[in-house]
Amino acid sequence: MAPRSTPITVVILAAGLGKRMKSDKPKVLAPLCGRPMVSWVLDAAKGLAPRQILLVTGHMKELVAEALETHGQNWKGVTLVHQAEQLGTGHAVQVCLPLLGKSPGRVVVLYGDMPLLGAQTLASLVALQERAAPGGAAILTATPSNARGFGRVLRGPNGGVERIVEEKDCTPAQKGIEEVNTGVYVFDGKALVDALPRLTNDNAQREYYLTDVVAMLAAEGLPVAAHETEELDEIIGVNNLVHLSEARWALQQRILEQHLLNGVAIEDPATTSIDHGVEIGVGSRILPFTVIRGGVRIGAHCEVGPFTHLRAGTVLADGAEIGNFTECKNARVGKHTKAKHLAYLGDVTLGERVNVGAGTIFANYDGKLKHPSRVGDGAFLGSGTVVVAPNTIGARATTGAGAVLTREAGIGAGEVWVGVPARRLEQKKKAGAEPAPKAQSRPRTRRRGR
Ligand code: UD1
Ligand code: CA
Repeated sequence: MAPRSTPITVVILAAGLGKRMKSDKPKVLAPLCGRPMVSWVLDAAKGLAPRQILLVTGHMKELVAEALETHGQNWKGVTLVHQAEQLGTGHAVQVCLPLLGKSPGRVVVLYGDMPLLGAQTLASLVALQERAAPGGAAILTATPSNARGFGRVLRGPNGGVERIVEEKDCTPAQKGIEEVNTGVYVFDGKALVDALPRLTNDNAQREYYLTDVVAMLAAEGLPVAAHETEELDEIIGVNNLVHLSEARWALQQRILEQHLLNGVAIEDPATTSIDHGVEIGVGSRILPFTVIRGGVRIGAHCEVGPFTHLRAGTVLADGAEIGNFTECKNARVGKHTKAKHLAYLGDVTLGERVNVGAGTIFANYDGKLKHPSRVGDGAFLGSGTVVVAPNTIGARATTGAGAVLTREAGIGAGEVWVGVPARRLEQKKKAGAEPAPKAQSRPRTRRRGR
């Protein structure tokens, strides 16, 4: 019997081909609210504070390793284990045997295609194994309204779990069983290590099934406990794009709910997408049909939407307003700055209280490289301004409607620029006012020549 302090190893199976996804990428990298599916599973695994996490990969393992780099935060302490041939879930755990060692402790096995599994559910299954199935295993079961594709749980006359039968191996009568195997297991490590080498592939799919370990333990008289969960969204196993969209919606609702509880007013959750990890300050309003991608930070009392797209690297300071059909990418937007209609703010830093007129575009891409622009506090960009990057616009500067600022035009503080290409407009001196700063050797505007 494994005592309470027994260290935990979590094994996550992520080597499957994912044929039913009809994608050429590993299934576990399918994007879900701004991160790969397996990142969600890793979060649940980390909740157990395990001694080690083994991630079994096969197909295109370099892509998984690459995602491991990009989504750095929750990959620490994860060891990749290679399963060269995908011979079944039991085989996938077999390839981990060398890493389980002589005292394997407790081994939790999860499938990389269950992104909704909650850390809480997992922790209670570990507790159940400890309490009710020492030396054996605990499995998570459920009774969903549609048992599609799940293995069925066969119980003996006394109600105990006897075995799990895959849908493809079911007799018509077994197919009628409503209780299913969700694919979450807590094993006494020693019992698992003893059973694994004895698996056979004598079944419809010619695979080594992990589920058969459960039958072996039960047949040997070792305890097998089952917890039937009521949290039916947690058990979604993503096998195709329909399941992926269901999982996405369930995760999206969790994210939106969290923001709502934090005091962010999301007017229409049904048409709002917010990725994992987005920060939004209290009192901000998110209006319908808005998409906020990962890597965005929004301050307090901002207004975003309707129909706004905020992309990675965008940071809105308190009180900023980004409105209809405006896209921001890597945009730093100062306090109380507004871009309310039809704008593209790419690779730009806007100061405080800037007004970005309707139709303004920061043309950040020259066909080869992306370039940054800066706009100072209190600047006013007239409707339809095009700013070819790189560029700078000084504080309180103004551009006329339709102005096209060629690259590195470098507008000084307080200057007014108009036209195509934009030229500086000399302002009439007011009595007692300071002279306007001189433009350096810039061509005169036509209007000035008149
Ligand atoms: C599995 C279970 C089934 C359960 C269902 C829950 C088995 C035999 N069946 O079926 O009882 O109801 O999950 O969703 O375990 N994988 C590998 N290597 C392999 C094969 C699979 O790493 O050789 C990984 C896959 O990438 C996937 C996970 O294991 O993440 C489960 O495999 P999958 O083929 O999706 O199993 P199901 O048919 O869904
Ligand atoms: Ca599956």
